[in-house]
Amino acid sequence: MTIRTVGVVGCGLMGSGIVETCARSGYRVVVREVDEGLLQRGLRRVEESMARAVERGKLSEEDRRAARDRIQGTVHMEDLKDSDLVIEAAVERMEVKKQIWRELDALCPPHTIFCSNTSSLSITEQASVTGRGDRFCGMHFFNPVPVMKLVELVRGYLTSEETLATCKAFAESLGKTVVVTKDHPGFVVNYLLVPFLLDAVRALEKGLATKEEIDTAVQLGLNHPMGPLTLLDFVGIDTTYYIAEAMYQELKDPRYAPPLLLKQMTLAGHHGRKTGRGFYDYRG
Ligand code: CAA
Ligand code: NAD
Repeated sequence: MTIRTVGVVGCGLMGSGIVETCARSGYRVVVREVDEGLLQRGLRRVEESMARAVERGKLSEEDRRAARDRIQGTVHMEDLKDSDLVIEAAVERMEVKKQIWRELDALCPPHTIFCSNTSSLSITEQASVTGRGDRFCGMHFFNPVPVMKLVELVRGYLTSEETLATCKAFAESLGKTVVVTKDHPGFVVNYLLVPFLLDAVRALEKGLATKEEIDTAVQLGLNHPMGPLTLLDFVGIDTTYYIAEAMYQELKDPRYAPPLLLKQMTLAGHHGRKTGRGFYDYRG
């Protein structure tokens, strides 16, 4: 089937990157946020990212304008009803995602494919509240979306081969490389990455070194682009806490149990770069 219009739910860190990437690849995009303030904030992030791409000579002014004209922001779920494919990028909470899918299942025509950008939550469980398990899969992008080349496509229990093939072709049309994974908590990347990030927090809690030294050790010793505590601030402390909690509940493996410090930072609102404070201070 042909995808022309993409619906995106959530215009936070990931939603805004998905909106930009789809619009720059020629798709019409309708993005829904919960209120006007959050919508404008997300759309501003898209504008800033595209302006940076123009400055660096990666995008022409004409293409930037054309991409911007393809994007429509809304606070109404009904405006997603003409989408050929919907990508959900709301917060990492199963109940929030299920409520979104219930609403969309009632609004969208039968041909619309539903994809969740979840980092850890079951695709099969999300699909179970819709009548379209065959047209439902995981489409897991990486942060920052315009830069990172991977998409994990997650096969739910009922996902059809046709849906997987359509979603693979769609992700490739965005310039991404696709890896198909089982519907298992964390899929491939987060199954490996989450224990590593949590161990970095535990190393800090134990006082093995300062936060700067832990980051420097990993950056220079393993040649990672960012140290793990910087990466946690980049991904979002709250998001990582919800991912770890969901994986721990499902797997009961202590490697996924969120450290107390992560929980406290989540409750304190120190969610990383997006709120100005995390392990590091980004204010000003
Ligand atoms: N949005 C769009 N583009 C961005 C960007 C952003 N937020 N941040 C950086 N870029 C672009 C820059 O414009 C630049 O593009 P060009 O090369 O085309 O000019 C390029 O990325 C490199 O940027 P910089 O030179 O400014 O900085 P850098 O070399 O330090 O790279 C980085 C920045 C790409 C973010 C790099 O630090 C990196 O790869 N970090 C690790 C990211 C990572 O591991 N992501 C996965 C997180 S886990 C996940 O996403 C899954 C999950 O479920 C939690
Ligand atoms: P975020 O907190 O930056 O943004 C989430 C946005 O969703 C918020 O702006 C919120 O207002 C909005 N939202 C909540 N309920 C909504 C609803 N019913 N309708 C529309 N919008 C709604 O979080 P994020 O980092 O963008 O993560 C979003 C999803 O992507 C999560 O499932 C997360 O696990 C996943 N993910 C995150 C990363 C990452 O590095 N942060 C990477 C890959 C996948």
